[in-house]
Amino acid sequence: MIIAIDGPAASGKGTIARALAGHHRLPHLDTGLLYRGVGAAALASGTGFDDIPALAALAAGLDLAALDEEALKAGPVGEAASRVAAVPEVRAALLKLQRDFARQPGGAVLDGRDIGTVIAPEAEVKIFVTATPEARAERRFSELLKRGEAVTFDQVLDDIRRRDARDSGRAAAPLVQAPDAITLDNTGLDRDASIARALAIVAERIGRN
Ligand code: CDP
Ligand code: CDP
Repeated sequence: MIIAIDGPAASGKGTIARALAGHHRLPHLDTGLLYRGVGAAALASGTGFDDIPALAALAAGLDLAALDEEALKAGPVGEAASRVAAVPEVRAALLKLQRDFARQPGGAVLDGRDIGTVIAPEAEVKIFVTATPEARAERRFSELLKRGEAVTFDQVLDDIRRRDARDSGRAAAPLVQAPDAITLDNTGLDRDASIARALAIVAERIGRN
């Protein structure tokens, strides 16, 4: 069983994907970390966001085992990730790894922007997680405050709006809901209620198949 979780920034994709993976004992891949890894490598090496061959080389050489999730969740890395994610050559370099992960025996849970549309269109369950930009910015703002980052709510909201617009507007694998994905709008839901909804969606889908 492949479970595809897509949605905009800070919608709660990772939280839901981890909970579903735990419940159904499936391996989980947060595909945003791959783009964050390339974005962070571009920042560290001073690679320009218009230097396509160099960005593609960073993506091809990405060492999954060396990705430091904590460091990659820093504010500026999200913006860099969204810049490199718009480059088709970067997406192409990361495609096989994600497809292989999705198609491993027994199944998997993946979360990102294009799982249900490009990486695993054959997924048995697709959930499109969303919430208002304000609700998402509120969540990301409190995470960044806990990390000790000096940001304002308005900066976080701006970052989320800019990233959503770039992710939805790009030509390569844009953020778009798959026609067969179920929408989970968790604007008014807390973490546990949102997970409960996702578990119910999966149970309903499995029952139907
Ligand atoms: O956690 P958050 O939703 O803020 O971001 P993320 O899922 O870690 O993704 C960071 C960036 O990577 C996004 O803004 C997208 O531009 C890009 N991304 C993508 O293009 N395709 C994916 N499957 C996952 C992430
Ligand atoms: O992966 P993505 O960027 O979409 O979001 P996340 O990292 O799973 O969640 C962002 C933050 O929102 C986390 O601190 C969650 O605990 C919180 N949250 C949530 O995931 N779901 C809700 N319904 C409310 C808050």
